[in-house]
Amino acid sequence: MCGIFAYLNYLTPKSRQEVLDLLVTGLKRLEYRGYDSTGVAIDSPDNKNIVMVKRTGKVKVLEEAIQEHFSGGEYSKPVLTHVGIAHTRWATHGVPCERNSHPHRSDDGNGFVVVHNGIITNYNDVKTFLAKRGYEFESDTDTEVFAKLVHHLWKTHPTYSFRELVEQAILQVEGAFAIAVKSKYFPGECVASRRSSPLLVGIKTKTRLATDHIPILYGKDEKKLSPDQDIRPHGQSRELPVLPRSESTSEFMPLEEKEVEYFFASDASAVIEHTNRVIYLEDDDVAAVRDGTLSIHRLKKSLDDPHAREITTLKMEIQQIMKGNYDYFMQKEIFEQPDSVVNTMRGRVRFDGNAIVLGGIKDYIPEIKRCRRLMLIGCGTSYHSAVATRQLLEELTELPVMVELASDFLDRNTPIFRDDVCFFISQSGETADTLMALRYCKQRGALIVGITNTVGSSICRESHCGVHINAGPEIGVASTKAYTSQFISLVMFALVMSEDRLSLQQRRLEILQALSNLADQIRAVLQLDSKVQELAKDLYQHKSLLIMGRGYNFATCLEGALKVKELTYMHSEGIMAGELKHGPLALVDDSMPVLMIVLRDPVYVKCMNALQQVTSRKGCPIIICEEGDEETKAFSSRHLEIPRTVDCLQGILTVIPMQLLSYHIAVLRGCDVDCPRNLAKSVTVE
Ligand code: M6R
Repeated sequence: MCGIFAYLNYLTPKSRQEVLDLLVTGLKRLEYRGYDSTGVAIDSPDNKNIVMVKRTGKVKVLEEAIQEHFSGGEYSKPVLTHVGIAHTRWATHGVPCERNSHPHRSDDGNGFVVVHNGIITNYNDVKTFLAKRGYEFESDTDTEVFAKLVHHLWKTHPTYSFRELVEQAILQVEGAFAIAVKSKYFPGECVASRRSSPLLVGIKTKTRLATDHIPILYGKDEKKLSPDQDIRPHGQSRELPVLPRSESTSEFMPLEEKEVEYFFASDASAVIEHTNRVIYLEDDDVAAVRDGTLSIHRLKKSLDDPHAREITTLKMEIQQIMKGNYDYFMQKEIFEQPDSVVNTMRGRVRFDGNAIVLGGIKDYIPEIKRCRRLMLIGCGTSYHSAVATRQLLEELTELPVMVELASDFLDRNTPIFRDDVCFFISQSGETADTLMALRYCKQRGALIVGITNTVGSSICRESHCGVHINAGPEIGVASTKAYTSQFISLVMFALVMSEDRLSLQQRRLEILQALSNLADQIRAVLQLDSKVQELAKDLYQHKSLLIMGRGYNFATCLEGALKVKELTYMHSEGIMAGELKHGPLALVDDSMPVLMIVLRDPVYVKCMNALQQVTSRKGCPIIICEEGDEETKAFSSRHLEIPRTVDCLQGILTVIPMQLLSYHIAVLRGCDVDCPRNLAKSVTVE
């Protein structure tokens, strides 16, 4: 949900043109987070003003505008120290258009400019407050109030530092945000902060830093605003109260005295080509750079706060975030699955000794074994990975397993108990609904287990323990390899939970054996690509696709239908085959495209019944069946054969043809595969 990128070069000469290139490249890496409109802000050539360029649409459009209007001449002269901020938007407040694009400004003179990810929920109150003081608004966004609020504070408190102004503004806003602010009154400085939306700072220096820790600093006076003073009570006309100014000289701790470059970004993929040294900011951290020195402040001190923020070394490689020879990231990520599933198991599964160790949760296993129930919570594809593994978890843990959509879970105020174990499954680790559900369960004393793909993400950090799925960066908005890796992570957990159950040893061995063959079997399924492409040619002009199955493959139906919808904008529905006769069968006739998953497992006979119900209504389903299953194949001329595996892992092999099918239909329909309309990769708003 929106991507933020800011770049500050201190004593490191860079032309404005180079800065713009850097900003645009940063935005391209973050484009998957939102692509409704884009914008950048840099210093004007005379250094007296701030220049903004904004465009509706994708980063490419912005890039072309920049090339046309901002290259050569003054823009190619090096500047020693400079700050540029940039944004790619996923619209929440106001339609995608230039007027609503970020950066947003405080006034006609561009005194303060802001990029923001998240939602300021009390923006109406702040807007009313500011409107009464003469501010006029030019956009429909919540973000604009922040820029104007900082400006108002600057006017009323002229002695405040840039950081203090931003801190004061943050104290007045509610909701979720990651922000980066630039000002013409504070050249060479940048202030950034986050609350419930991700933000990190990348640091690039020529020499290694003297320390791996940035101390956390606190204002000298931690006086809180009293509720009757602040602006939240529905915009009544009160002046903003302010904290006494702290003596900034003693607050700034030098990180490095010489040349340094800083990158503020929504995620690591935007900085990795510049540096692998990053600090993940925590909620309510305010990171400020002044005179080339980074300081991290917190508004209030709490007992469990660490004294410093650690500089982390990223393990990511630049190749991981490039498309290579593929046309789209999604395509690359589908084809990476033979490797990504191995990476999920690497160092955890010992096939020779039939042992599994999940380092991130091993100390909690005794507690988990004593729990009342397991709850698996997520959204979209991550939720489907829970549906896919629920049956195995019930079988191997012998515990009640509840599977929940995070948004619905929160709507219901679901009862949660101290002896519940709650799994939060999220590729990004930042999905707002999932994160809110996590906090809800944590407050009620449940054990929180994170299953994420993003090291350093909020879900990762707020969980008691967890499993990194290690699928590698997933950039295509449609989730593919993360799904199969989430699936395997949950299967591994089920295996760990059953390691001392004698009666389950044979079953465990069968699953372990199947896991060891999985990468090769995925390779075999990927060979179906051209056949799937042919099927896509038959289907892409239709309006709808029904996907039916049951048991271990029901999750594939849901996931396949989600992929088709999000990528191709065609209607698609995942149907539990057992429910067919309770309604959906009415949709079936000789023109309705149907795909059925019919594998040789305990529900085979029931699936065959459903298949016959469809064919006897003149339906002609495409069938996904097991290699060499002539009897099943005979029901349709169009089929995809997948290798045989243990029942509980079939879902990994059956989902891959669905990923390929949705991909090919999207290409044939001329859809933007990596950036489907109206969507974004990381959904950081509720
Ligand atoms: O990052 P998360 O796994 O928490 O994201 C949850 C969903 O938004 C996500 O899986 C979404 O459904 C995918 N784009 C579907 O392909």
